Amino acid sequence: MSGIVGYIGKSSAHTIILDCLTDLDYRGYDSAGIAISNMESIEVRKEKGRVEDLSALLEIEPILKGNIGIGHTRWASHGAPTVANAHPLCDENGQFYVAHNGIIENYSQLKNMLKSKGYVFKTETDTEVIPHLLVHYYNGNFEDTVKKVLPLLKGSFALAIMSKEQPDTIIAISQENPLIIGFGQQEAFLSSDISALLSYTKEIYPIKNGEIAILTPNEIKVQTISGEIIQPEKKMVEWDKEDFSLQEYEYYMLKEIMEQPKEIKKTLEGRIEENNIHLPELEAFLTEHNVSKYRKIDIVASGTAYHAGIVGKKVIETMINIPVEVSISSEFRYEHGPLNEENLVIFISQSGETADTLSALKEAKLHGCPTIAITNRKRSNLARKADCTICTNAGPELAVPATKAYTTQITVLLLLAIVLTEKTNGPGMERIREMISELQLLPEEVEKTLIMTQDAIDQFAQVTEDQESLFLIGRGLDYVLALEGALKLQEVAYLHADAYASGEMKHGTMALITPGVPVIALSTQKHLRDKTINNIREIKARNAFVVGVTTIGDDDIGEIVDEVMYIPEVHPFLMPIVAAIPLQLLAYYAGTVRGFNVDRPRNLAKSLTVE
Ligand code: G6P
Repeated sequence: MSGIVGYIGKSSAHTIILDCLTDLDYRGYDSAGIAISNMESIEVRKEKGRVEDLSALLEIEPILKGNIGIGHTRWASHGAPTVANAHPLCDENGQFYVAHNGIIENYSQLKNMLKSKGYVFKTETDTEVIPHLLVHYYNGNFEDTVKKVLPLLKGSFALAIMSKEQPDTIIAISQENPLIIGFGQQEAFLSSDISALLSYTKEIYPIKNGEIAILTPNEIKVQTISGEIIQPEKKMVEWDKEDFSLQEYEYYMLKEIMEQPKEIKKTLEGRIEENNIHLPELEAFLTEHNVSKYRKIDIVASGTAYHAGIVGKKVIETMINIPVEVSISSEFRYEHGPLNEENLVIFISQSGETADTLSALKEAKLHGCPTIAITNRKRSNLARKADCTICTNAGPELAVPATKAYTTQITVLLLLAIVLTEKTNGPGMERIREMISELQLLPEEVEKTLIMTQDAIDQFAQVTEDQESLFLIGRGLDYVLALEGALKLQEVAYLHADAYASGEMKHGTMALITPGVPVIALSTQKHLRDKTINNIREIKARNAFVVGVTTIGDDDIGEIVDEVMYIPEVHPFLMPIVAAIPLQLLAYYAGTVRGFNVDRPRNLAKSLTVE
């Protein structure tokens, strides 16, 4: 998991590469590096920390002026975040320079082989085998040598490679790991993500598995490893640079929380017509597959998307007569129940590039399962590989903690649940009309919730500043919400936050409840309310400091807790969206009051393209 950038053209390569790398630093931010060619020689600079630290280094130690180069911003997977381990990495004689994203899974065998032949390793990375292999197999032709080395590498990876002997060329590879070519005016770019290129071009081509792209000042060639020429089909990016700007906000996280009414509206746009749900992207799939025949639905995802998946399970299972199981992608990949063509598998991923989720998709396909992807990136690997894709249309999400991705993923799952219910004539048929009319009001309700809770949450977050742990409890959908709220607090405020099913506290965790310990009690599901009230009383009896989150008018909860946060009441299935807002805000304010960079939490990255 890292970000790669490349440039070849007439402008100053290092200026453009640094600019693009800054936009990619959400992909990893523990070290950064750059290699520049002036068509005669290649020079490298690397620094620990973020791209801005590399820029500061370049002020003190300027790099060669040139129009060709590659850059990298790293999320360390093999080897500590040191200057030595930062990319681009090269061999002992500085013949080949490699920026790499992903993991070379068989690197230790390759390393042993190379060591036995006398190659000396200077880093702890898996990447270093690549420049040595290139040297080892070099036959005087850069392109041919890369083609010889590629089949030796196992894993998913993207590479940008330069050669001292051919300093006018960059070779790029994208093997299950994104790398995009951007086409400018007599110039070309490489980037792990389109977001970094929008100041320069909107015309792109995502390099595909098995292809190699050769960029020189005069042409961009794409071919297969066996040499077959590919005509890259250029695509126009629909996002603008403005979508990536911070506007008046200090952090993307707050901007993205505040954007939710607008983004949910976009997710619903064109999909509700005259009280019917239209998901045209599903039509061909549903014609080909008879949903009523499915014996089971699996939902597979990682992180926040996994929590959205659990909400999806609870809703779908209530609406149709098919059991649903939710799995964490990294677990599903290696352990799952029986799978076959009667198992629908739904994958959820904001980025569509999470390696664990992509591997899980591969596994499902191996068993012949029909697959649906729910993603925010319609050109991602996940979208390309699943049988059908429903896009969340949430606009770019740049803060590492997912917020609008979560609420728009649940929105899509609700739409999907309705379509599947209609197709199977499931028991949820009678709920559909009410759900649709509430969905139409959802953007407004989310807006109201933001207005109602923002200031109160800000104040409460100040109180949590000296706390080291916090509990969140809830039943049913509120328990799922608690899981997501706890994850947000861990990621952003580094707070030991734990989520429990309210009824489960008495089976162990109650021992941790001491006077003053903060507990957030979620009660948005009417049918579970009385039991939740009992659980809150049990916790209050141990003198915990309880903050209740409940719907407007539920004064019983208000009376027994220390503080209460009221949110609008919507359809129970929509409550996990509305009630997520105060929890996201809490994480944001708890993180900022502690002085943390909430967009770039320590040790994390936005899109994890390593397993
Ligand atoms: C990372 C991010 C999380 C995200 C997870 C899954 O861990 O920090 O915010 O939920 O990846 O990402 P995906 O793109 O697959 O939804």
